[in-house]
Amino acid sequence: MAEAMIEVQGVAKSYPSGDRMLHVLSGVDLSIEAGERVAIFGASGVGKSTFLHLLGGLDYPDAGAILFQGRRLDEMDEPTLAQYRSHEVGFVFQFFQLLPEFTALENVMMPLLIAREHGSDIRERATELLHQVGIKARSHHFPSQLSGGERQRVAIARALVSRPSLILADEPTGNLDVDTGLRVMEVFGDIQQRHGAAILMATHNAALVKRFDKVLEMQPGGGLCPCDSIPREPVGARGASRLTNEMDSDTQ
Ligand SMILES: Nc1ncnc2c1ncn2[C@@H]1O[C@H](COP(=O)(O)OP(=O)(O)O)[C@@H](O)[C@H]1O
Ligand SMILES: [Mg+2]
Repeated sequence: MAEAMIEVQGVAKSYPSGDRMLHVLSGVDLSIEAGERVAIFGASGVGKSTFLHLLGGLDYPDAGAILFQGRRLDEMDEPTLAQYRSHEVGFVFQFFQLLPEFTALENVMMPLLIAREHGSDIRERATELLHQVGIKARSHHFPSQLSGGERQRVAIARALVSRPSLILADEPTGNLDVDTGLRVMEVFGDIQQRHGAAILMATHNAALVKRFDKVLEMQPGGGLCPCDSIPREPVGARGASRLTNEMDSDTQ
């Protein structure tokens, strides 16, 4: 059997809470294949963001292990882990987290600039991604000049610019109205499929996960259980061609 891209083995995480420990995750197992779409449901406070942070190498589990391509994150030296965070993982957050003093294009280029990539193609790569998420015409707008849906499209483009193998999306539509959220997810699904990056998304919204391969529910105290009650449709049934029809004017 092929080795999973990400392997989570018995992960536990607690936080101090007064004079006690709050056991957020315990015994969490998960594997994610290259290009796979995995959604995690769970009540607010159950530990979804904590889990995504661990997978992104932003924090360490108290027990268990997370392996990327067979290598434990907690055994990587700092430069290797930094490389993992900046090149293998792309983050999409609920509140977009764009830099307000930079344009859409500059925000998308930022991960490459921070990684000191100077190739002349950086601007073209960022522009092409803005085209793919349907807002190339807004390239020179600042975040304050964009709607919520447009800001999240910029953030999706930024998450992909370093060609990551895994996108971690933490309630990416949580700050958008329902229709805008669905449209942003359509674009997100198309671009994820086109680029072949795996996605792990935390969400509350069952309407968003139709195209996902695996839908799991995070239980209080940790543990991920299959969530079979949510209907889904295979991604192969839908083409990425919609993306090319996405007009710049067709944004929310
Ligand atoms: N850095 C932290 N220190 C202490 N407690 C934390 C910290 N981060 C999260 N928590 C607590 O851990 C629990 C899970 O939080 P979180 O992962 O943000 O849940 P979710 O994303 O599912 O809403 C919550 O009770 C939260 O208050
Ligand atoms: Mg959260």
